[in-house]
Amino acid sequence: MTRSVFIGCGAYLPERVVTNEELAHKVDTSDEWIVERTGIRRRHVAAEGEMTSDLAYAAARDALANAGVKPADLDLIVLATATPDETFPATATTVQARLGAPGTPAFDVQAVCTGFIYALAVADNFVRAGQATTALVIGAETFSRILDWEDRTTCVLFGDGAGAVVLRAEVDPDNDRGILSTHLHADGRQHDMLYVDGGPSSTRTTGYLRMRGREVFRHAVVNLAQVVNEALEANDLEADAIDWLVPHQANKRIIDFTARKLCLPPEKIVLTVEEHGNTSAASVPLALNTAVGDGRIKRGDLVLMEAMGGGFTWGSALARW
Ligand code: ACO
Repeated sequence: MTRSVFIGCGAYLPERVVTNEELAHKVDTSDEWIVERTGIRRRHVAAEGEMTSDLAYAAARDALANAGVKPADLDLIVLATATPDETFPATATTVQARLGAPGTPAFDVQAVCTGFIYALAVADNFVRAGQATTALVIGAETFSRILDWEDRTTCVLFGDGAGAVVLRAEVDPDNDRGILSTHLHADGRQHDMLYVDGGPSSTRTTGYLRMRGREVFRHAVVNLAQVVNEALEANDLEADAIDWLVPHQANKRIIDFTARKLCLPPEKIVLTVEEHGNTSAASVPLALNTAVGDGRIKRGDLVLMEAMGGGFTWGSALARW
């Protein structure tokens, strides 16, 4: 069977780091409150004029170099973002042009914080269907542009960044490397829990992120537990078979809850929320890149990725590295 095998990953974080202490000078908050409720200590924020495509391009270059793949070898580029440079064209096409891969299909996927899992599922299906052999999947966001910096309930939670992976179609004789399963879900009835109050077809403005934090938290722990169990059952696995849980980095308390449900020890959880905050679609590939880069995730390891975001959307991807 043809599977999508991870052959490289990369990342980019904007230079500027904003600490909790710095935020406490702008809104009525404190380092203690933010750390206790979320686990976040600092986040990166894009410079004036630095756009999602700039972050995505840098992460893509890093991933391609890591994979030893030239842009001309790509036959698919999928970019997950909820903060595109422009309403159209897709930010993926800007990245494609800068990489120098004319003709390669390139499009955006929008599932907010679940965006990377959705994009990975789309690319994996292209590969399995024989429509792509070398795919670049990027998650990139500049959430700092859609935050109300006077709203302490949201502005402390998010950060900017980008992560990318390169997938290659491989027929594995043992048939167990690569993406083993993806599961996607959405429930549009939950729109009001987490949304941006603007857009081209409604207000013609970009708008700001609005969130009912406590309700989002409640739904997140239920939906993530469900999707993780679904992935395990579909692959006939027990939780202790998982080598690494690479969760969406929204909040350490949500991640701890999911890990407890799975009875996974903290050493098996990849955590970057402390350093990056919630980078939405970039959070899973950024965390992947961290754990691959520092040697934790190794060839043959079983890696479970999961995420949940506005919509609501949620999903999982299970892969043998
Ligand atoms: N600093 C200080 N106080 C604050 C802050 C802040 N930054 N933000 C809110 N507060 C106050 C509130 O005003 C409230 O005060 P009150 O009791 O006087 O009314 C108090 O803190 C408690 O507020 P809660 O909303 O009940 O706090 P909670 O413990 O639920 O934590 C949080 C809030 C961190 C947002 C939590 O609900 C959460 O993490 N929810 C999930 C949100 C999330 O992760 N969203 C990301 C997108 S979806 C996803 O990625 C899964």
